[in-house]
Amino acid sequence: MVSSGAQRRSLHGQWSSRLTFILALSGSAVGLGNIWKFPYIAGVNGGGAFVLVYLICVFGIGLPIMISEILIGRRGRRNPVSTMSFLGEEETGNKHWRIVGLLGVVASFLILSYYSVVAGWALAYVFEAGSGTLVGIDAEGASHKFDGLTGNWFISGLWHSLFIILTVFVVARGVEHGLEKAVRILMPALVFLLFILLGYSMIEGNFSEALIFLFAPKFSDLSSEGILSALGHAFFTLSIGMGAVMAYGAYLSSEASIIKTSIAVVMMDTAIAILAGLVIFPIVFAHGLDPAEGPGLIFQTIPIAFGQLPGGRIIATVFFLLLTFAAWTSGIALMESPVAWLMETTGLERRKTAIFVGIAIWMLGLLSVLSFNELSDFELLWGTFFDSFDYLTANIMLPLGGFAIAIFSGWFMSANSTSDEIDASVDGVYHMWRISARFIAPVAVLLIFLNAIGIV
Ligand code: TRP
Repeated sequence: MVSSGAQRRSLHGQWSSRLTFILALSGSAVGLGNIWKFPYIAGVNGGGAFVLVYLICVFGIGLPIMISEILIGRRGRRNPVSTMSFLGEEETGNKHWRIVGLLGVVASFLILSYYSVVAGWALAYVFEAGSGTLVGIDAEGASHKFDGLTGNWFISGLWHSLFIILTVFVVARGVEHGLEKAVRILMPALVFLLFILLGYSMIEGNFSEALIFLFAPKFSDLSSEGILSALGHAFFTLSIGMGAVMAYGAYLSSEASIIKTSIAVVMMDTAIAILAGLVIFPIVFAHGLDPAEGPGLIFQTIPIAFGQLPGGRIIATVFFLLLTFAAWTSGIALMESPVAWLMETTGLERRKTAIFVGIAIWMLGLLSVLSFNELSDFELLWGTFFDSFDYLTANIMLPLGGFAIAIFSGWFMSANSTSDEIDASVDGVYHMWRISARFIAPVAVLLIFLNAIGIV
C-alpha cells in the first residue's frame, strides 16, 4: 500500500522546526566549499564566465535536485541507501536504485579524506593567527607560510589527524543536535566577519578590478573543463548528488515547505560564496598575486588583510576558528553517512564504527597530505591524489548521483507521490520543478559531460 509521506514518521524523531532544518542543512552546505574552494576554482577558471555558469548551475540544476533529494528523503524516511531501495521498490518494483545511495556513501568517504586535509590547514591557521605570526604579514610572507605548512607532510598530517579526531568524536557520540544550536550562532558570526573583511577589501583592496574579474564574463577564458568544474562545484557546495540531503530530509516534518526551504538554503550558500570571492579578489589584485594560484589562495590572501587590520590578530584567530567550525559541521555530515550505512549493514555499534571509518578516511587522507610534498610529482588521471579525489567526486560522482536523483524523482516516481510532498498551494511551482527534474537538469548534466569528453 502506498501511504503518503504526510502519514509516515521517521523512526529517529523530527526537526523541531523548519528553521532548525534550514540551519542543519546550511551547516552541511556552508563549508570549505564556499570559502576555500569557490574562490580558488573561480580564479583558476578565469573568473566571470565561470561564475556565471556556476550561478546558472546552482539555480537551474542544483535547486531542483535539492528539492528532489529532500522530497525523496522525506518520503522514504530512512537512511539514503534504504530510502532508495525502498522507494525504488515502491515506485518501480526495482530495489537496485539503492546503488545511488551507495554511490553517495563512497563519495562521502572520498570527499572527507581530502576535505579533512584542507580543514587541517584552517585549524593550523587558528594557531598561527593566535600566536601572532600573521601580524603585519605581506604577500610574500603569506605564501611562504602556506608553503611551509603544506610542504611539511608531518605537520600538515598532524593537523589532518586532529581534524579527523574532532569529527570522529562527534559522530561517535551522535550528538548532532548540539551542533544545530552552535550553527545558529556561529554561522551568523562567520558571515559577520566576512562583512568586516569585505569592508577592508573595498577600502584597501582593488575592488573594481575584482568586480570585473568576478562578474564580467569573458567566455574565451572558459574551457569545457571549466564548465564541468562549475557544474561539479554547484553539486559540491550544496552537498547534493550523494544522498546527504536525503538523510536530512528524512527528519523533516511533513508540513514544512520543501520549496521554500530549498530556496533559502541555496540562496544562503550562494551568498556566502560570492561574499568570500568579493573579500579575496580585491586583495589578490592589490598585491599583484595570481588569481589562479590554486588551493592556497585564501591562505595566501586573507592573512594579508588581517595582518593590516587593527585588532587583526584576534579577528584572524576567530575567523579561522569559524572556518574550521564550518568545515567541522560539514565533516560530521560527511562522516555520518558511511558510519550510518556500515552500522546498519554490520550491526556494529556506533562508537566502534565511527572509529573504524575515521581510521580508514584518515589513511586515505594521507595521500592528499603527501600530494603537497613527497608525492607532488606523482600524477594520476587528474593530477595529484588530492586533485584526483576532488575531480572524481565533485566533477564525476556528484553530477552522476544528481542525474540519477533527478531522473528517479521526475520519471520513476509517480506524479501523485511527488505532488504529495510538494505542497499543492504553489501549483505552478510544482510543475516548474517537475519539468526541471524530468528535462532541464538531466539534459544539462548530460550535455556538460559530453562536452567535457569532447563529444558535443
Ligand atoms: N557542501 C560542503 C561545502 O561546501 C561540502 C560537502 C559536499 C558536504 N558534500 C557534502 C558536506 C555532504 C556535508 C555533506 O563545504
